Amino acid sequence: MFIKRFLLTQYGLRCYLCQHRSKSTVGHQKTTTVLGQSYEVDPWTNVSPAILEKIGMNLHSQKYHPICLIRQRIQDFFYKRFTKRGNPIFSVFDNESPVVSLKQNFDNLLVPENHPSRNQADSYYLNSAYMLRAHCTAHQQDFIRAGLNSFLIVGDVYRRDTVDSSHYPVFHQLDGVRLFDKHDLFEERVSQPDALQLFDDTKHSALNQAGHAIEATLAVQHDLKSTLEDMATILFGKDIETQWVDAYFPFTHPSWELEIKYQDKWLEVLGCGVIQQQILNKSGAGSKVGWAFGMGLERLAMKLYDIPDIRLFWSKDQRFLDQFRVDDPHSNIQFKPFSIHPPCDIDLSFWIPEMFQENDFYDLVRSLGGNIVEKVELIDVYTYTKLKRTSHCYRITYRHPDRVMEKVEADAITKKIAAEASTKLNVKLR
Ligand code: DAH
Repeated sequence: MFIKRFLLTQYGLRCYLCQHRSKSTVGHQKTTTVLGQSYEVDPWTNVSPAILEKIGMNLHSQKYHPICLIRQRIQDFFYKRFTKRGNPIFSVFDNESPVVSLKQNFDNLLVPENHPSRNQADSYYLNSAYMLRAHCTAHQQDFIRAGLNSFLIVGDVYRRDTVDSSHYPVFHQLDGVRLFDKHDLFEERVSQPDALQLFDDTKHSALNQAGHAIEATLAVQHDLKSTLEDMATILFGKDIETQWVDAYFPFTHPSWELEIKYQDKWLEVLGCGVIQQQILNKSGAGSKVGWAFGMGLERLAMKLYDIPDIRLFWSKDQRFLDQFRVDDPHSNIQFKPFSIHPPCDIDLSFWIPEMFQENDFYDLVRSLGGNIVEKVELIDVYTYTKLKRTSHCYRITYRHPDRVMEKVEADAITKKIAAEASTKLNVKLR
């Protein structure tokens, strides 16, 4: 999210879902309650009931769920790493609330004020101070400040996105951090660790941060890359091809993405890098250096188990869940699709108002259509120059997981969507 969203523009503050029932009215103040905490609604609020419903489902901790199985595999890999003295290196945190402050999600991680990822169109805000975390990296600084050197964070993350078989507004991430003092870093690598430094007066370059001694950067980098390559091998087998691609994240430098070759295509599986020293300095770990990474679990699980559609992770259908009932998370599982019922496509066209955001419409469709909506696609944009009006045509693909979707049923939902779009998003139906 931190590299690819530069094209989005800022748009006006607005709360189109204020009237929703999950928000309660206390006196004149509206609040949203999440996990027992109330948050005042303000012009930044854009969480929808369909999203709030997902909070607390914790697929990453549900026994036998594929997201939990893959998390266990990765966790086992990290548990098997020991210090020289035989202590396990990593602790795991999987129960942090997904409600975080904007400070945790952005400021602590040096995300600039005007960075596009802060846009309302991209993230779910409870109000102008709290949001649903857009990445597990949001907890990184808190754990470092608490004195931890090596840890994993697993959790659900929330991003406003298009709707299709590989995008869903809630998914799961696993982040990892490892910090080193001079001893940890050099002891296992060289015979005279005392001759080496973590810090010196090296200038900033594409290869290192200002103040990081070259030998320290290279050693951190080597530990990071070899750890993650080993992890990829554990997940996908020893024949897996990998490649490192230079990347940018505000919280690391240098930064990379790891790609794996999967069915003849390069697939990006994680982002990582050397933690910005400024973050460590602010968190009481200024005498250390370290690496961090973060990755999405759905994407890995889809490849590993051959799961064709991201919505299946939310399915309660036993035909899906039963295929993952294995006590050993390292078992080889290939998902076998069960009978798929035919889709039903309905097109909806409307004139859009000036401040229209596509993601508002996608959220609305998902709120009303739920999991029956397989895909929403903008199939036509038409501008009537004379009247300075633009029209969008969306194709909504419905598919019921358990039975044939009747056209009348799809029509009825589309009608509701059309009605809400015109009252809440100010579109004019064509
Ligand atoms: N948080 C990033 C994302 O969601 C992934 C990431 C990149 C996490 C680099 C990290 C990191 O901890 O060091 O796109």
